[in-house]
Amino acid sequence: MTPTGAGTLHGSEAVAVAAERRWAIVVIAIISLLVATMVFTSIHWASMPPSRVETIDPRNLHIAGEFVESNLGTMVDADGKVVVRLIAQRYAFEPQCLVVPAGVPVTFRATSTDAVHGFVVDRTNANVMLIPGFIATFTATFDKSGERLMPCHEYCGTGHQAMWGRVQVIAADEFRAKAKDGARVSCVPR
Ligand code: CUA
Repeated sequence: MTPTGAGTLHGSEAVAVAAERRWAIVVIAIISLLVATMVFTSIHWASMPPSRVETIDPRNLHIAGEFVESNLGTMVDADGKVVVRLIAQRYAFEPQCLVVPAGVPVTFRATSTDAVHGFVVDRTNANVMLIPGFIATFTATFDKSGERLMPCHEYCGTGHQAMWGRVQVIAADEFRAKAKDGARVSCVPR
């Protein structure tokens, strides 16, 4: 049954050998493609953070530009979009308490002044890393009103476990009333 030595292949045996060879080529091609994908994505993504949209100089965040203190908090942009701007720094978020409307897409724009921090809103998919030099941007919609916790979830130093803020989700009408005329809204006591 089994051919020994270098005999010629006959009939069904030749068909089987050809099929095996074809499949071997297909399998090698698939494995090569997967390895190439892994090499490409690890090199490509390792060289930039996941939210690699915009860069910013972390040294003068407080002095000029989008992230000056008077521009932080939630506002309604000229085109009607709800935008939250915040900064993370050891060991607090600024502002520490955010106000957002329920049921409306909210765009977050955030960055860090010092270390890599994590931003997550409890029980939502609002979750991003805040990296000095980069602006993290994402959009989330909060379905229910109520208060959520917003802890830092990236170890950033000895005060990491004390770094957290709050998010108050309020009714959209109530929010629109607060954010009239381009006002920056937050729930930080003044
Ligand atoms: Cu900021 Cu951990």
